[in-house]
Amino acid sequence: MGKLNGMPDKDGSGEKLVAAREYETKYEIARGERPLFHVTPPVGWMNDPNGFSVYDGKVHLFYQYHPYSTEWGPMHWGHQVSDDLMRWEQLPVAIAPDTTYDAEGCFSGTAIEKDGEHILIYTSVMKNPDGDGVLQNQSIAVGDGITYKKIQNNPVVTGDMLPEGLSRADFRDPKVWLEDGRYYMAAGCVDQDNKGLVVLLSSTDMDSWTFESVLARNEGNLGGVWECPDFFKLDDHHVLLVSPTGMKAEGYEFHNGNNSIYFVGEFDKNEKKFEGGEPLSLDYGTDFYAPQTTLLLDGRRIMIAWMQSWHNLWIPGGQKWQGMMTLPREISIKNGILIQKPVREIESYRADKVVYTDEPISGQRSLEGIAGRSIDMTLTIKGGEYNSFAVDLAKGEGYYTRFTYDRCSGIIELDRTFAGFERDVVCIRRARVKSDAELHEGIGGTADDRADRDEISLRFILDRNSIELFVDDGLMTMSTTIYTPVTATGIEFSCDGKAVVDIEKYDIKMS
Ligand code: FRU
Repeated sequence: MGKLNGMPDKDGSGEKLVAAREYETKYEIARGERPLFHVTPPVGWMNDPNGFSVYDGKVHLFYQYHPYSTEWGPMHWGHQVSDDLMRWEQLPVAIAPDTTYDAEGCFSGTAIEKDGEHILIYTSVMKNPDGDGVLQNQSIAVGDGITYKKIQNNPVVTGDMLPEGLSRADFRDPKVWLEDGRYYMAAGCVDQDNKGLVVLLSSTDMDSWTFESVLARNEGNLGGVWECPDFFKLDDHHVLLVSPTGMKAEGYEFHNGNNSIYFVGEFDKNEKKFEGGEPLSLDYGTDFYAPQTTLLLDGRRIMIAWMQSWHNLWIPGGQKWQGMMTLPREISIKNGILIQKPVREIESYRADKVVYTDEPISGQRSLEGIAGRSIDMTLTIKGGEYNSFAVDLAKGEGYYTRFTYDRCSGIIELDRTFAGFERDVVCIRRARVKSDAELHEGIGGTADDRADRDEISLRFILDRNSIELFVDDGLMTMSTTIYTPVTATGIEFSCDGKAVVDIEKYDIKMS
């Protein structure tokens, strides 16, 4: 396998990259004005995580990036690195849309190591020379962990390699991995009936690629383009993550518009087809999209997502950065369900522990020492006589974000109506916690199954502008952005009867 030939700017002069680097250095917003431990852009707009990978001993995270404004624009790849997934170091912009084949944007993709080099595989978007609209192809940039050069042979994968009937305009977001000495690429696409699918290609050298199969497709009601696919082995199964556009709400499982969903199933290596089980939501909050995973050297599979949503976002005037990532999450499978836990590295940043044990809560209560906007707090509702239990976070004059647990139905409602918005975005979302019966016998039980569950644990991670809830040790998550002034640090509990709770709360401190 020969090295990929990185070239010093075929038709790109490099000016756009230099300009973006100068801009982000000049206008970088102080860390103190952004969330403490979630990845945010130094300035401007961020969307999907890209190229989440381990290279040269560090975790690299690239992201869809438009430094010049807080709105989406010509896509660059921004770049940060970390030793522990909590503290991130800013690196210069990695690639800019500066060639004829990516003039319309460097869209999402992967990074992987090959022959000691760090290879970025991204969607290069160009105007369609023979008609309207754009062509989306896949291209490569080769680098050393800081500087990346696009290769001579770009684009290495074009829509012409796909079978008739598959889109050339919506063919994007390659995920590349090495398996049995071959490189595989899974990319999102759509057929002529506007149904999403994932195509699989392969290569021995990453320079020349062949179409293998349609790995998986929307056989039901699962939206248009299957954006940002990720495909990997986890705990003896294969998992496919996709982020479909244009989905329809279904029960408490899916909501309208862009969703991120997953299937746990098996990969038929001969047919190159994935047989997935029932699709489920990855996150039940308001802000979670385009997740990507990577494998750490210690064997943990880590997932990170854009903690925002295309249809649901509000860009606060005056704020010079927009968009952030979720906390990286350790994922595993239990009874067919993807379990997500905050990376354990967060524990090294815990300070000022406050504990309550067997605390009775009735009516409205706040508790000494329980407050803050950068915290890790686990509340275990152990039982008692109650039906509804609510937690108000980021509470202050006129502000709160409420999570209400209904014990009978097992439904958790998130309500961020009073979280500082000046726009009528979606603020309420409900999700149903899976019962023990469902967990043991597969999904599909009813609310009645909940009778067997008397205890529930709610772990809240707050980082100034966001709240991530991990229910029952990662069985379900709800992520949301909030725009509440940071002075609103209150936490209040309320209960319609009398509940007994344990609380363990830490401040998260980065210095
Ligand atoms: C998903 C997405 C990708 C695309 C990128 C463009 O959020 O639409 O499909 O590559 O964003 O920024």
